[in-house]
Amino acid sequence: MIKVRKPWEISESKVTPEEIYQQRRLFMKAGGTLGTVMLLSPWSNASASLVIGDYQRNVITLDEEITKEADATSYNNFYEFGTGKGDPVKKSQKFDTSDWKITVGGECGKPGEYALEDLIDSSAIEERIYRLRCVEAWSMVIPWLGVPLASILKKLEPNSKARYVAFKTLHDPRQMPGQNRSVLQWPYREGLRIDEAMHPLTLMSVGMYGKTMPNQNGAPIRLVVPWKYGFKSIKSIVSIDFTEEQPSTSWNMSSSREYGFYSNVNPEVNHPRWSQKKERRIGEFFKQDTLMFNGYGEEVASLYDDMDLRVNF
Ligand code: MTE
Repeated sequence: MIKVRKPWEISESKVTPEEIYQQRRLFMKAGGTLGTVMLLSPWSNASASLVIGDYQRNVITLDEEITKEADATSYNNFYEFGTGKGDPVKKSQKFDTSDWKITVGGECGKPGEYALEDLIDSSAIEERIYRLRCVEAWSMVIPWLGVPLASILKKLEPNSKARYVAFKTLHDPRQMPGQNRSVLQWPYREGLRIDEAMHPLTLMSVGMYGKTMPNQNGAPIRLVVPWKYGFKSIKSIVSIDFTEEQPSTSWNMSSSREYGFYSNVNPEVNHPRWSQKKERRIGEFFKQDTLMFNGYGEEVASLYDDMDLRVNF
């Protein structure tokens, strides 16, 4: 189970003042500068088939401090490698992501088995700096590398019955020791409504901090949906399915009362076992206020205009 940590309780007067968090804005730059990924990263044993060359820097950025790379790559949730925050980095280093395939099916014109390079145009890779807010009330700011999920989905030609997109993580208990325990129903499953999946902020990510994706962060390919709790951002994806019905998702299957299908970051809807009003930014001492839609409301609130977010949490 996802558990909240307790020791960061502080007095109200010590939290970030309102003016400061109000200043946190999303910057969308028309054109960033070019950077080149360092292929010989410490995680180069990941050796996925996609070669990342030049990428567009800072396509979306924030005026907030980026989380230290060492923290973002060692404090992880990836239950396939264990439930401890330090388990993924320790237990995933031999995870073989070479010759990775993604199976596409359901309501689309182009079902089949795809290699990463069939789905991702490596010359279109961009860097986006997003907040990541875990449902456990900690957060980070991470520079991801990837392409809009929409650019991939359009190639697959969803038809008019495709109302949702479902994703699955690899199921391979020999490589993923956490799958030998039934903490969740494996494989890990997630899903989005098609308009959420097509939203320009939704990213399919293949790297971070200018490097290919570390195994512990979801190599070789993972989703990043910045306005939703982190568990929606499924790692190590092996299938994409277009469906007419809302797909089942792992955390919702495990406890629907605690983890909704939508799981938009919402400080007004508490987890049944803890408050969602504040969060601890990893690397900082004081908690800060959690923002509605994780600060991306201007971009995404209209997706939910006709919904009661307390019911559809
Ligand atoms: N994807 C899979 N397959 N398995 C997981 O356990 N954990 C989720 C999400 N994606 C998870 C997953 C949770 S709870 C969070 S907060 C983020 O991954 C953490 O991503 P990070 O470790 O890269 O920070």
